[in-house]
Amino acid sequence: MDRPAEKKAALITGGAKRIGASLALRLAAEGYDIALHYNSSEAEAIDTGGKIRSLGRECAMFKGDLKDVNFIQEMIKAAFDSFPHLSVLINSASLFRRAPIKDTDPGMFDELISVNYRAPFFLTKEFARFCTGGNIINILDTKVSAYQNVYAAYIISRSALKDLTAMAAVEFAPRIRVNGICPGIVLPAENESSGYVERLEGRNLLKRSGSPEDIVSAAVFLLENTFITGQTIFIDGGENIKQSGGS
Ligand SMILES: NC(=O)c1ccc[n+]([C@@H]2O[C@H](COP(=O)([O-])OP(=O)(O)OC[C@H]3O[C@@H](n4cnc5c(N)ncnc54)[C@H](OP(=O)(O)O)[C@@H]3O)[C@@H](O)[C@H]2O)c1
Repeated sequence: MDRPAEKKAALITGGAKRIGASLALRLAAEGYDIALHYNSSEAEAIDTGGKIRSLGRECAMFKGDLKDVNFIQEMIKAAFDSFPHLSVLINSASLFRRAPIKDTDPGMFDELISVNYRAPFFLTKEFARFCTGGNIINILDTKVSAYQNVYAAYIISRSALKDLTAMAAVEFAPRIRVNGICPGIVLPAENESSGYVERLEGRNLLKRSGSPEDIVSAAVFLLENTFITGQTIFIDGGENIKQSGGS
């Protein structure tokens, strides 16, 4: 007799739309119930939640600002109450701001660090308290490979999360594997000017954008390959490769 499939569930931050929603829908298709976090994108979250349920999976929704550590603690507890079998945390939510050091004020600095680094730090801590065995995947940015100072505080916040990825892998092994994905250009940020995509495509070796599915398939690979931890993989068309040679 066939054994019933093992129950699986994943919490995805920033899961209402764009790459976060693609991650949620693919994991739902792979058999995961989804704890879907969002903040302001209520309509998109309801739409994504409906698609998850139409795939035959359960979806619990959590609305809140990741700058608030109390909300993070409450959300993780509620997510485990909804899905005691929760075993995956994907930190996909992030805030993108352009400013070199000279134009970065303390407010912008604090906001970027809070959303992009402090939130995943405490999500990791809280998730690890309840999770008996599983995975954390941090969605980072290929920009961590260069000192592109026009995104000074943004890159610092993502680089800190890349370091946390390895540190958490050490602390929570062998119970929880922790890995990162650095996307290159996939979808233009909603506040970027036209020409941004073309400029970035010109910077990578493949001279094109990736798709959300390229990021999603990397996440599925990291979940399936149980001998990987503490790693960050670049899904960026080779943008992180420093080119030299020729004259
Ligand atoms: N798109 C790309 O080409 C690209 C390139 C490199 C790296 N990445 C990384 O890949 C991940 C997903 O990319 P994306 O473009 O889909 O992300 P995004 O649209 O820039 O942001 C994802 C979500 O983050 C949530 N968020 C922002 N501030 C928040 C806060 N204070 N509290 C709670 N949630 C907050 C937003 O949720 P609400 O809308 O619900 O408010 C937003 O929908 C991000 O980590 C990003 O840095 C993307």
